[in-house]
Amino acid sequence: MPRSVLLGTGSALPATRVTNDDLAARLDTSDAWIRERTGIVARRIADASTTTADLATEAAAAALAAAGLPPQAIDLVLVATATPDLTFPATAVRVQARLGIAGGPAFDVAAVCSGFVYALGVADSMLRAGQATRALVIGAETFSRLLDWEDRSTAVLFGDGAGAVVLERRDPPEADDVRAARGLLAIRLHADGRHEGLLHVDGGPGSTGTVGKLRMAGREVFRHAVHNLASVCHEVLEETGLPIAAIDWVVPHQANLRIIEATARKLGLPMERVVVTVHEHANTSAASIPLALDAAVRDGRIREGQLCLLEAMGGGFTWGAALLRV
Ligand code: COA
Repeated sequence: MPRSVLLGTGSALPATRVTNDDLAARLDTSDAWIRERTGIVARRIADASTTTADLATEAAAAALAAAGLPPQAIDLVLVATATPDLTFPATAVRVQARLGIAGGPAFDVAAVCSGFVYALGVADSMLRAGQATRALVIGAETFSRLLDWEDRSTAVLFGDGAGAVVLERRDPPEADDVRAARGLLAIRLHADGRHEGLLHVDGGPGSTGTVGKLRMAGREVFRHAVHNLASVCHEVLEETGLPIAAIDWVVPHQANLRIIEATARKLGLPMERVVVTVHEHANTSAASIPLALDAAVRDGRIREGQLCLLEAMGGGFTWGAALLRV
């Protein structure tokens, strides 16, 4: 059975770094409150002229460079985003054009903070079905544009950025244990629309005709997140028969340090094996996992052959997990 192998990672962050103190200067909040409740110290915010496609293209170019491939090697482009440049065409099509390629499928995946794991699942299915050979899977957001900057309970939590990976369809080597070979070993995705009211954007082209603003019942989201994340992580482990001790790194969606810690505790994983970037990036929605993955690959923590558990939960609710041997 062919599988999807990771060839390279890349990321992009806007230049402007906004600290908690910067926010406290215009909102009734404080650095201490934000750090204590979320672990966030700062976030990057895109300037008015930077779009999601700009960040996505920069991250994609970095991932291609890391993979040592020209854009022409790519025949599938997926962008996971809740903040597309336009209602249509898809941001992925814009990214494809900017990379100087055309012809292969390119589309966006809308699963908010779980978007990158969803897009990995879509890419993996298409690669294994023979519909493409090499995919760019990008998570990219200008989430700051969805925020109600008067609402301190949500405005302090999010940031902008993009991360990307290149995946290639490969036949696994003849091995005694296929789980030891590189590639995506398992992916599980879930959704439950009954909880829309707890985390949503109150506008859209088909309802209000406006973009809308993010609304969230933080405490309830927190409770669902820890439960759903731990449960889906167990599912991918069970599917492969691998024990929790086999995991070298967890690369979680970076929503909140307390959610990350509570989930790791529930799984019985020490924080030394968890990649954390939320302090500097805040919650960048679909971009957060590929941003964290790229950071840990580039600083040498994540190395070829290691087993990574990616997990995310977001609006919908949607949630999912993937086991990736890098
Ligand atoms: N600064 C200061 N005070 C704030 C604040 C801020 N930025 N935001 C909210 N508060 C206040 C509230 O008004 C409330 O005050 P009150 O008790 O006088 O009414 C108090 O802090 C506690 O609010 P609450 O919402 O109960 O806090 P919490 O402990 O649940 O922490 C979150 C809030 C948002 C940090 C937390 O619920 C959380 O992380 N939820 C998950 C959110 C998330 O990550 N979502 C994305 C998933 S993809």
